Amino acid sequence: MKLWGGRFTKPTSQLVDEYTASIYFDKKLAAYDIEGSLAHVAMLGKCKIITTEEAKTIAEGLNIVASKIESGEARLSEEHEDIHMNVEKLLIEEVGPVGGKLHTGRSRNDQVALDMRLYLRDALVELIDLLVHVQIALLKQAKANMDTILPGYTHLQRAQPVLFSHHLLAYAWMFQRDIDRLTDSWKRVNQSPLGAGALAGTTFPIDRGFVAEQLAFEDVCENSLDAVSDRDFVIEFLSDASMISMHLSRLCEELVQWSSQEFHFIELDDEFSTGSSMMPQKKNPDVAELVRGKTGRVYGHLMGMLTTLKGLPLAYNKDMQEDKEGMFDTVATLRGALSLFAPMIETMKVNKDVMYNAVQRDYSNATDFADYLVGKGIPFRESHAITGETVLYCIKENKYLTELTLDEFQSFSKKVEADIYHFLSPEAVVQARNVLGGTAKNQVNNQLESITQAINMN
Ligand code: ARG
Repeated sequence: MKLWGGRFTKPTSQLVDEYTASIYFDKKLAAYDIEGSLAHVAMLGKCKIITTEEAKTIAEGLNIVASKIESGEARLSEEHEDIHMNVEKLLIEEVGPVGGKLHTGRSRNDQVALDMRLYLRDALVELIDLLVHVQIALLKQAKANMDTILPGYTHLQRAQPVLFSHHLLAYAWMFQRDIDRLTDSWKRVNQSPLGAGALAGTTFPIDRGFVAEQLAFEDVCENSLDAVSDRDFVIEFLSDASMISMHLSRLCEELVQWSSQEFHFIELDDEFSTGSSMMPQKKNPDVAELVRGKTGRVYGHLMGMLTTLKGLPLAYNKDMQEDKEGMFDTVATLRGALSLFAPMIETMKVNKDVMYNAVQRDYSNATDFADYLVGKGIPFRESHAITGETVLYCIKENKYLTELTLDEFQSFSKKVEADIYHFLSPEAVVQARNVLGGTAKNQVNNQLESITQAINMN
């Protein structure tokens, strides 16, 4: 017999039970569901809606149910549809009919919203911590590469040399913004919907503030209809998660490129690489590829949830049961990616010589030649043209800028002097960008300090 079977003359079809049940996945919420019920029953006792004795019996029963679910001793069944009904059923089995008083002044609609928020609060804390670990790994590599110069790219064409530390810190800032977003979303997650009932509130003299306090919520949701039908916090989380995945995926793409034979800028540790079943020489950056690939499913969950919610009238609709799997999967996907990422970054070998060699064999110091001429009083637009012609000449002669003789330089501009060779060296080019946020070493050092401060405040 269903807990809500009173109004029915026939049992539901087995197919309906299977189709509508959420217990297969919402059993993940068991501990949160019971935590919420414990707060609710304490409030029922305090407000004299049930007796103190009854509240005590129910709380004890809930604790037993919790441990039985945890140990796997309790049987969760699809016949009871979801975690909420299963827990109530188990409670009644444990303490008898008094267990039926637990649901006084409450609906599964406010209950499930509560469980989701409790789950997400923990997930946010865990993910922020994992993101910090990735940041720390990036910082360690940045510190070890304060003198490592590699080509910076735009359009994936060599553009200007940068410090490798500068490049890595760019990602540390992205993850900092991700952490800021998750931290900000916390205040919208951290509100208690309990007491909204099915949609309109309840006739019992409940104390919503007390329940919220018990569960360490900052506040209560102010509108009962909104409280049970709001899943903005899930969508917001999926959106934040999509951004995190996108950032990870961009870094993955660079790791994949850099570890190719064509770039050969880094080598991922054996522990974080895989081989080929056929080609014995292969060492593949599978982890980076898979993290990049899994971005698709996180975006998918965001689109899925936006679409599920878009046409729903107030208040609760069964459609909303679709909010869970995408959220759980997103948390698990990020957990997996972030846990691997920190050690993968930390252990990667940086081929400093290859990087340095690359900037010596390109025209990424061309802007600096133009800037040099500006220093000699030539307007930038003119110096840009002179430099362009010089580079074209170099390409024809199969030379790099620093391989030109002073005579050759002077054939393009009489203003060039012998100091040009030092001016165009990779070290000088990097150090010349001594502007806030630039790639000069002292600027990157300042940056390291401020990102470290930001990380410590997370
Ligand atoms: N399993 C449901 C869900 O996840 C719980 C709420 C069901 N409420 C209801 N009135 N059918 O959304």
